[in-house]
Amino acid sequence: MPPQSVAGALLASLLATSFIAGTADAALLDAPSPKNYIRRTLARATVLNNHVYIEGGQVTQLEDGLRSIRGRVANQVNSTLSIPLDQSWKSESVTIRAIPKPFPEEMARNRWNLWTDTKEGVFYAWGGYWPFGLGMVTDEVYKFTADNQGGGEWSVETLANGEGLDALSPGEAGAVTSTGKLGIVIGGQATPWTQLGRDNTRQLSGMVTFDFESKGLLNGTRNFSPFGNTPVVGASAEFISGVGENGIVLVMGGHVGRTDEEIKIGDMDFFDMRNITFFDPVTKEAWSQITTGDIPVSPRMGFCTAAFSTKEGGHEIFVFGGHSERDKLVYDDAYVLSLPGFVWTKLPTPPGGRRAYQTCVAVGNRQVLSIGGRGKEDEIEIRDEIPQGLLLFDMTAMEWKLEYDAKAAAYESASTIKEWYKRRYVIIPSMHHAPKPVIN
Ligand SMILES: *[C@@H]1O[C@H](CO)[C@@H](O)[C@H](O)[C@H]1NC(C)=O
Ligand SMILES: *[C@@H]1O[C@H](CO)[C@@H](O)[C@H](O)[C@H]1NC(C)=O
Ligand SMILES: *[C@@H]1O[C@H](CO)[C@@H](O)[C@H](O)[C@H]1NC(C)=O
Repeated sequence: MPPQSVAGALLASLLATSFIAGTADAALLDAPSPKNYIRRTLARATVLNNHVYIEGGQVTQLEDGLRSIRGRVANQVNSTLSIPLDQSWKSESVTIRAIPKPFPEEMARNRWNLWTDTKEGVFYAWGGYWPFGLGMVTDEVYKFTADNQGGGEWSVETLANGEGLDALSPGEAGAVTSTGKLGIVIGGQATPWTQLGRDNTRQLSGMVTFDFESKGLLNGTRNFSPFGNTPVVGASAEFISGVGENGIVLVMGGHVGRTDEEIKIGDMDFFDMRNITFFDPVTKEAWSQITTGDIPVSPRMGFCTAAFSTKEGGHEIFVFGGHSERDKLVYDDAYVLSLPGFVWTKLPTPPGGRRAYQTCVAVGNRQVLSIGGRGKEDEIEIRDEIPQGLLLFDMTAMEWKLEYDAKAAAYESASTIKEWYKRRYVIIPSMHHAPKPVIN
């Protein structure tokens, strides 16, 4: 072969390489290496079969340690991610597995309504919004069936009330939780990015439930949603089993929206973190309770929560960060709300600065895993000080950590919380009945 030909072939192959790299997003990853990770936001997570599954959201990353010059600053995440919980790991080095999806573009969404049926090893995904309004399709409920190795398969669920979806306005920013039998979303808002063909933004009233057994979707306001006809946006919900016969759902934070006109969230009334609403998910009976202690500042939305129960019958809800749209600030604080005392305790300041739009799950007996999050909106470009955005909190030791302990001991309330109950001479009852309602 003549030398110039070799050079020509080399040049051609070099050109081909740069051509591919320059036109496709081939080097962008849903789970970039720890070195290339900048931020992950607006994802949802759940725990199934000893793995954390992370669904949806957007990721900002470097390419080979350099600023990415292609695509958008924060790209849609196109696969389902998983992290093992049967072994200990460090945030800086744990490998996040990416599981491809059958309909990646249609399913690349932020803040899904994620409902977990732990017993069956499945979670359902409905609603949420398409970042940039890209890849929008008609509404479906998707189902993910987990295997035991941190993988699993997606399918489209067939609903009991076949036409049910047409009658609903899928939204985002609702208060989402699962009771073991039901998936729940209270309120939220429907926008041109949450529903194909929609041209306005409205907050949603009512509560939608998804029955894991019958696969029926139901939307109700009267004697159904704890807020009746009041539209609620940006609240958070946690289910606590072991209170009363059916468990209770606690709802906190968020704003009172409008169903008749477009209004800025910052101009809306809000639900004070001092006043917690809770209801029985079966009878739908609702109460509200005024709390004491270190009450988190309101208004607050975009925060994350996780629930823990002690064997003595106490329950604690972890609350982390979020933002005030009214005051244009992002919170850098975290709290625990303890039941049955309904008392707040402020936690040590979280490392990594202010954080909103992260997602939290209870893992390994007594730990919280917080995934992703950002400061203000443009701070998705500022590298997270927390490696891979994986921040942990030990609920008993009351300590922030950058590693997960697969062998952590069973959950016990932190000593400051135990101390509070002692001082108040309250004996933690085994809570066969819901705590006494104060109002309603
Ligand atoms: C996900 O897919 C979209 C559409 O193909 C693409 O623009 C985006 O960069 C992908 N996201 C990542 C993180 O690679
Ligand atoms: C549920 O019903 C209320 C009252 O009719 C309605 O305003 C709301 O949009 C419905 N929610 C959804 C998700 O469609
Ligand atoms: C607490 O919130 C509930 C539900 O929104 C409301 O009915 C009640 O009046 C509130 N209580 C106080 C003292 O603000």
